[in-house]
Amino acid sequence: MGAGIAEVLARGGLAVVGIEVNQDALERGRGHLENSTGRAVKRGRLTEDAQREILGRVALSTDFADLGDCDLVIEAVPERLDLKRKVFAELDRVCRDDAVLATNTSSLPVTDIAVSTGRPTKIVGVHFFNPAPVMKLVEVIATVLTEPDAVTRVADLVRSLGKTPVTIGDRAGFVANRLLFGYLNQAASMLESGHATRDDIDTAMKTGAGLPMGPFTLMDLIGLDTCLEVLDAIYAESRDRRHAASPLLRELVTAGLLGRKSGRGFYTYDKSAAESAAEAAAGPAPVVGVVGVGPLADAIAALCDRAGAELRDSAAGLAGCELIIEAAEDAEAGRALLSAAAQAAAPDAVLAVTSADGPVIGQAMATGRPAGTVGLHLPDPAGTLAEVAATVATAPEAADRAADLLGRLGLTVVRCRDRAGFIVDALRFPYLNDAAAMLGAGYADADSIDAAMTLGCGYPTGPIADLDRLGLDRAVTVLNALHTETRDPALAPVPLLTEHVTAARPLR
Ligand code: CAA
Repeated sequence: MGAGIAEVLARGGLAVVGIEVNQDALERGRGHLENSTGRAVKRGRLTEDAQREILGRVALSTDFADLGDCDLVIEAVPERLDLKRKVFAELDRVCRDDAVLATNTSSLPVTDIAVSTGRPTKIVGVHFFNPAPVMKLVEVIATVLTEPDAVTRVADLVRSLGKTPVTIGDRAGFVANRLLFGYLNQAASMLESGHATRDDIDTAMKTGAGLPMGPFTLMDLIGLDTCLEVLDAIYAESRDRRHAASPLLRELVTAGLLGRKSGRGFYTYDKSAAESAAEAAAGPAPVVGVVGVGPLADAIAALCDRAGAELRDSAAGLAGCELIIEAAEDAEAGRALLSAAAQAAAPDAVLAVTSADGPVIGQAMATGRPAGTVGLHLPDPAGTLAEVAATVATAPEAADRAADLLGRLGLTVVRCRDRAGFIVDALRFPYLNDAAAMLGAGYADADSIDAAMTLGCGYPTGPIADLDRLGLDRAVTVLNALHTETRDPALAPVPLLTEHVTAARPLR
């Protein structure tokens, strides 16, 4: 992070002094700077002259005294309060009285650092996101002691570097990590419980929610030790068990498997994560039956059309279908339609019960042939992801067949157990609920929350905009289903959501 931040500052035309603990670390830092800017040169994003200029602006040293002329110092040492305090004591001694001292901590309270210095009014947090040269967000953290002028100077500087500052108070996780890490940890718990595989969870969140990386690829990028530190810090403040780090994460860290930087974390980096992606299903488009009418049935018809698949929706036609999808708008109607279809279907046809929220075992039992029935969820009916849930009654070969048939419709298929929200909704709606809670609590406004996730984590849209796009009533329905299943109080829809649903008003 230190090298990344130094690169951002030097690219912004500033003279930078980079301090490391010893000569070896200094050389590693120099290597990071050269590699990162060298990559930009290779991609034609930077000329060799510009690279030389950027590197020429960074003076590297192991002597704190070289910071004596700096206007701003950004600390990015490991996340140990004792170490940070030692560094700040040294900075306090060598830096000019008017210099602003900033910490890039992602897990320690900035206030705890500020009170240990002789200049608490000039201590701020400046929180960059990994990779620092790429991510546009910088959270600027003001403690109750920070003077407004120090915050303004840092926010202006961040803006001059082409980044977007979001200024907020000193709460564990700030905005982005507070919203991100509940989700990342839940993904780890999902893997640990056997709900779905690592690759299916990563694929689901990339393909189904449009995220730039799946949760396990991202945790490996951040570093699993950092993930654990951030989770422990947020848990200490929130006491929300969704922030209690998954034992799997803790085990990996104890084993020294820290992600990309150590060569192995959730993935092993001698071959790329992308290589493990599932191959596309091969074979002719299947004959598909659809029972029920409504937007989902229309979306399935459009999908079959694109794939060149024959679609049948008459009772007589169902007998020749390999896959029969229930797509009724109303669960009761769907149940009746599917049990009638089950009578007409060929013995080896797969029945798929669509569900927007709860588990499907009830509908599967009502078909009279639960062994041949799976749950199906299309998180975005116009998108390309299909989530297939096998119930405890589903025959493994029926689940395999469902995955194959849906793959032959051109869909990316992921598989999971029969639980509320499948994968995508079970992970995204609690995160969206947290964002609504943050908005309701007044910690940050809608623009800051949305900017944190789009600019800090590369999400295609921010959570407040997402809630309005996906529908607040849908959010409340899915959250209620998740809450009913787990009885976890943190999964109950927050009052701001239910209030807006009652008032029929979007959040924005
Ligand atoms: N250093 C410098 N530049 C990098 C880089 C790195 N480590 N990784 C990628 N880039 C640059 C590339 O050079 C490329 O630049 P150009 O477009 O100018 O050529 C650009 O980023 C895109 O890279 P790629 O095409 O190789 O890869 P991609 O399209 O898959 O994007 C990504 C990579 C930008 C990392 C993207 O996957 C992403 O946005 N991921 C989400 C990252 C995220 O969530 N970060 C926040 C983590 S939380 C945190 O950091 C806070 C904390 O406290 C823990």
